[in-house]
Amino acid sequence: MKSREHVLAVVISMLLMTPSWAADHKPNIKHGEVLVAKKCMGCHDNRQYTRPNRIIHTYEDLRARVEFCDSASNANFSFDDLDDVVEYLNTTYYKFKK
Ligand code: HEC
Repeated sequence: MKSREHVLAVVISMLLMTPSWAADHKPNIKHGEVLVAKKCMGCHDNRQYTRPNRIIHTYEDLRARVEFCDSASNANFSFDDLDDVVEYLNTTYYKFKK
């Protein structure tokens, strides 16, 4: 595929995905906690989120990192699951303003 077509394809697929991010989901912190305990202890435990040299400095960083670690761990979280996990980590550890 030519690279311009590729960029277009990526943009279109992002647009198509937007409605599920925007969906009216109220994050469930308790469910986020359960998901993290079940799926996220393979490489690091919860101390990762309070380490002094942590790499996450904004709410957007946190969301991106959770999505990255979701793929790294093959947890296959749905968009709602990602919301729950981000909300749990933010409420418990990071406390960023949205
Ligand atoms: C395949 C191994 C692996 C799994 C499984 C994993 N992570 Fe990670 N995660 C990492 C590594 C490695 C880092 C540190 C990256 C660095 O320091 O550059 C990290 C860092 C993080 C951070 C940032 C910590 C900071 O510095 O503030 C968050 C948040 C995070 N992981 C969330 C999750 C969540 C949520 C899950 C479950 C979906 C998960 N991780 C599962 C490998 C993993």
